[in-house]
Amino acid sequence: METLEAIKTRRSVRKFSDQTIEPEKLEAVLEAVRQAPSWSNLQCWQLVVVKNQETREKISQLSFVESFFSTFGYKSNPAQKALAQAPVVVVACADPKKSGDLHEQQYYMADIGIAMQNFMLAANDLGLGCVFVGVFQEAQLRELLAIPKEIKIVGLFPIGYPAGEAKSGPPRKPLEDFVHYDQW
Ligand SMILES: Cc1cc2nc3c(=O)[nH]c(=O)nc-3n(C[C@H](O)[C@H](O)[C@H](O)COP(=O)(O)O)c2cc1C
Repeated sequence: METLEAIKTRRSVRKFSDQTIEPEKLEAVLEAVRQAPSWSNLQCWQLVVVKNQETREKISQLSFVESFFSTFGYKSNPAQKALAQAPVVVVACADPKKSGDLHEQQYYMADIGIAMQNFMLAANDLGLGCVFVGVFQEAQLRELLAIPKEIKIVGLFPIGYPAGEAKSGPPRKPLEDFVHYDQW
């Protein structure tokens, strides 16, 4: 698949078939993370690859944060079932000490965001689907996965073969809403 095609056709996938992921495909999406650019090439990312069904079910429950979702009238995270259904959940973490901190901005978020976009595009290229899940109960997840306290947990990525056809994505703003030429 061409790069622009992979970018255009990537969608958040929240329903998965029960087909497992071939080990070489899982390795390929993890390799796509490894190839990402990062602050001073410090490669701040750390990934926890969860295959265990019981652990994925616990992660799924931890993706519901009532104080956040109740403001939208949601009774679950839209990706909650996907976390239990997908054969693999990749928990994307970052070590802030291995990234930049300048102008009151911590660049580990940029590093991991770029890396996981590589992951999502590679998944799409290989016929796999996934979704970035950014809402979760942080302290409980940290305990469940034994993630050290100095490491930030940034997102959960259920990944597998999509069930059914991809829907068209939600609309995007037109370019003129955010592109400024020569000056703001
Ligand atoms: C930082 C971030 C956090 C997100 N968190 C969630 C989430 O908790 N649950 C969910 O269902 N989708 C989540 N999403 C997916 C977005 O809802 C989705 O990307 C957006 O609606 C655009 O749809 P598309 O990915 O199909 O283009 C998140 C996406 C990003 C980038």
